[in-house]
Amino acid sequence: MKFDTPAAENPIDQLKFISRPTLRIDGPLKTTGTAPYAYERHDVVANQAYGFILGAGIAKGRIKSMDISKAKAAPGVIAIVNSDNAGKIGTTPRNFARLLGGPEIQHYHQAVAIVVAETFEQARAATSLIEVEYQREEGSYDLAEAKDDSVVPKTHEDKSVGDFDKAFSEAPVKIDEMYSTSDESHAMMEPFATIAAWKGDEVTLWTSHQMINWAANDMASLLGIPRNKVRVISPYIGGGFGGKLFVRADALMAALAAREAKRPVKVALARPMMMNNATHRPATIQRVRLGATKDGKLTAVGHDGWSGNLKDSRPEVSTKQSTKIYAGDNRLLRLRLATLDLPEGSAMRAPGEAPGMMALEVAMDELAEKLGIDPVELRIINDTQVDPMDPKRRYSKRQMVECLREGAEKFGWNKRQVEPAQVREGQWLIGMGMAGAFRDNALANSAARVTLDRDGKVIVETDMTDIGTGSYTIIAQTAAEMMGVPLADVTVRLGDSSFPISSGSGGQWGANSSTAGVYAACMKLRENIAKKLGVNPEGALFGDGKITVGEKWIKLTEATKNGPIIGKDGIEFGDLAKKYAQSTFGAHFVEIAVHAMTGETRIRRMLGVYSAGRILNPVSARSQVIGAMVMGAGAALMEHLVVDKKRGFFVNHDLAGYEVPVNADIPRQEVIFLEETDPLSSPMKAKGVGELGICGIGAAVANAIYNATGARVRDYPITLDKLLDSLPDIG
Ligand code: MOS
Repeated sequence: MKFDTPAAENPIDQLKFISRPTLRIDGPLKTTGTAPYAYERHDVVANQAYGFILGAGIAKGRIKSMDISKAKAAPGVIAIVNSDNAGKIGTTPRNFARLLGGPEIQHYHQAVAIVVAETFEQARAATSLIEVEYQREEGSYDLAEAKDDSVVPKTHEDKSVGDFDKAFSEAPVKIDEMYSTSDESHAMMEPFATIAAWKGDEVTLWTSHQMINWAANDMASLLGIPRNKVRVISPYIGGGFGGKLFVRADALMAALAAREAKRPVKVALARPMMMNNATHRPATIQRVRLGATKDGKLTAVGHDGWSGNLKDSRPEVSTKQSTKIYAGDNRLLRLRLATLDLPEGSAMRAPGEAPGMMALEVAMDELAEKLGIDPVELRIINDTQVDPMDPKRRYSKRQMVECLREGAEKFGWNKRQVEPAQVREGQWLIGMGMAGAFRDNALANSAARVTLDRDGKVIVETDMTDIGTGSYTIIAQTAAEMMGVPLADVTVRLGDSSFPISSGSGGQWGANSSTAGVYAACMKLRENIAKKLGVNPEGALFGDGKITVGEKWIKLTEATKNGPIIGKDGIEFGDLAKKYAQSTFGAHFVEIAVHAMTGETRIRRMLGVYSAGRILNPVSARSQVIGAMVMGAGAALMEHLVVDKKRGFFVNHDLAGYEVPVNADIPRQEVIFLEETDPLSSPMKAKGVGELGICGIGAAVANAIYNATGARVRDYPITLDKLLDSLPDIG
């Protein structure tokens, strides 16, 4: 089904299932431990052996020699694979660092060998007997240092409109500040894990992955076998956050090991391997320059973003939101990419906007203060209903002003003291901060197969994934709505490359795109049912297990008396997203307490108000944005992969050293979704929300700290050591 004209009224608008708060149908499976995750698939194939991966002990250089003789002779060892015997490994368009290193080493903990043994303990013990001699080379590990040698990334040329330099120099009020964000880890609960089994020349991978189609394509390329010889199965995923968008070493090494061992092999990355072996969100340094008239109208928006990564790979696009979140006729956006020999930097929840908003939205707070305009008001003054880089493109829907107003009212923003460090409760300094929220709404083609079986039950199959987001549930709601059957009569099967290709889960496009694909397949199924029953599908109503045309109704099971009926189709997005700017919007508010003596920072409450199209399921959407807000609070206050700048690796590579917020860090959190439908986004009229909640909340935390203390920290995370010297003397 082509989607190239705005959605008209359609069966989804009935809202019998869609937009109703619906608990996750996979919830009981997960909370009772009966949802099988990749590493737990003990029953899918017999005779599984255990693989343990050895990571490189240097960040850059070469393996001079690897002696595996002791490891090979160790008890229980079945096989060892390294670059000497792995054969030729192909490349993928999505991986920059090779998943099997050697002899050349590109980063610390790059996989260099896998040992297969009868038990996990035997594999792990034998791995420690591998003797590697390295030739270490000097590397570049410090972004601040490498920044001066950075280049324009091939994929991201400078963008400009109007005359930024002139407008900025002439602006009566301006801000010019530097900000920095740290390297961050996805730190998802479920580690990377794969069971690989070969049958002849075909390999099956039970794994944990966000994008089944990419995984199948990329595994075929890596192994040098046809795509149809790879099967990827990933029905349950314990979090990904972008870390599982692209295949990782567990998948490749399990496949290589299973081929060598001639047995199924299961591999999980031990937690201390995850942070350096896999990808992370790259640190950024950003310069934001804003120029405004005295009454607060932005005339110049300049944003420069530096990041580092392996040579010729991707930059962190921290300037992304600055192209279009606020009005302003003159704009200059530049990215620079430095070469670093750290592990590969890649996508993590809202790549681009998440760190970009942490700088821009603090700069807006600083500008508001200079102007003497309330920060909420400043954002309202600079609202735009068109893409400022291309004013012919209207926003499909944008209720950012409504979010700002509603949020300010609900939060009690008028109680905020404009002057910082004015509110005290004993030794605690109390402050409020706010920031806008902004994330693009991406669309991705998505297909599904929907079957009506003999007893009137509906089965949906698509290679879509549920990474903890609620895909099972919203897809079931969609099919129930479209086919007019109870939710309990819908079975959803996901995460299998033998199913039609979906959007997968990434870039917050999954919910809208995958349900739109199911919508298309259901439309086809409705047609096929009507045809079978000899009725005109136009004007036929599907409800209560019946199809009704005028006065006449027929039970759906009449159509399937002689066997199931299938509808297979997908959504193909046309150029509506080119003609109209599509994004998601919101406003974040935070109240914070900072201890005047120690700098300890406690979030007291957070509020997010969002404008993001139709909310398909208020329960799972809320869960998505509160999770994202927590992650943003982590980025603001504690998440920090610390670089050993001499040896070139992340030092705190486990969950003891890499801190993420826990429940006690997040006492009160509220979420409001504005009533909205966006007929330009899809027949579902929905948008993504999974990443919106992390875009801006970190800046709201920083702005609240400033309001509480008068200390403006522009270097995240805002740990107490950065506050201590600037805390007010409370006597
Ligand atoms: Mo997202 S970073 O595309 O999972």
